[in-house]
Amino acid sequence: MLNKMKQWRNQNSLSDLQERILKIKELQVPSHVAIIMDGNGRWAKKRALPRVAGHHEGMKVVRKITKLANELGIKTLTLYAFSTENWKRPKIEVDFLMKLPEEFLGTFLPELVEENVQVQMIGYKEMLPTHTRNAIEKAMEDTKNNNGLILNFALNYGSRAEIIDGVKRFLKDCNSGIMNENELNEENFSKYLMTKDLTDPDLLIRTSGEIRLSNFMLWQLAYTEFWFTDVLWPDFREDHFIEAIEVFKNRQRRFGGV
Ligand code: FPP
Repeated sequence: MLNKMKQWRNQNSLSDLQERILKIKELQVPSHVAIIMDGNGRWAKKRALPRVAGHHEGMKVVRKITKLANELGIKTLTLYAFSTENWKRPKIEVDFLMKLPEEFLGTFLPELVEENVQVQMIGYKEMLPTHTRNAIEKAMEDTKNNNGLILNFALNYGSRAEIIDGVKRFLKDCNSGIMNENELNEENFSKYLMTKDLTDPDLLIRTSGEIRLSNFMLWQLAYTEFWFTDVLWPDFREDHFIEAIEVFKNRQRRFGGV
């Protein structure tokens, strides 16, 4: 009896979610969603597990949310997977995090190819271990002709360093006569950032109750809507993502106007 009730409830909540998905698809979805996936360590601690268990569980959530974002017709999903500051963590955790892209892509790349997802990355690729870089580069190569969702991993990414490097490259172009200082404006400067081929995020989600940006896309988030949740990333589910988009749909974006 209990099982039957559970089954009935499961079926019911699934159809509720699907109804919400349909509703969202009728309206315009945000084109670019960025996520700071936070709370893996706390999720593991609550279960007396090593921190890396939280990262591993978080990787499975990446798969679910990628699938849903693609289904919703979102154009770009940027995921903050490793910051330039994360190298300060214990070696065992860093090594584990550096193996996750391989495991994720080793398992899911064929499905991503089939689902027309294009894998991209922002961040300092040269500083990644060779095995991590190879996995990402292979995925980028195998999916380069796909035109569905862009799954953009921010890996060894730091926004301040990105901006400073952009300034340096702009100055270099000025010195060599390709640019001059009068051409420095917001649009031109955007082309010196790692996101030059992407639109700015429309919606930023951060999980785990922390209300800060942690050096993530500082330039690109200038007009983005923010949505914060206490849910820890490994507990983040499709209905949380849908909720974030529903809230986004009800916000009025004025971009500085009235
Ligand atoms: C922050 O949580 C999370 C990270 C630094 C890593 C995020 C990585 C994943 C979710 C997996 C990525 C998957 C792929 C495919 C690359 P935290 O460890 O700071 O959590 P805490 O604040 O609770 O300690």
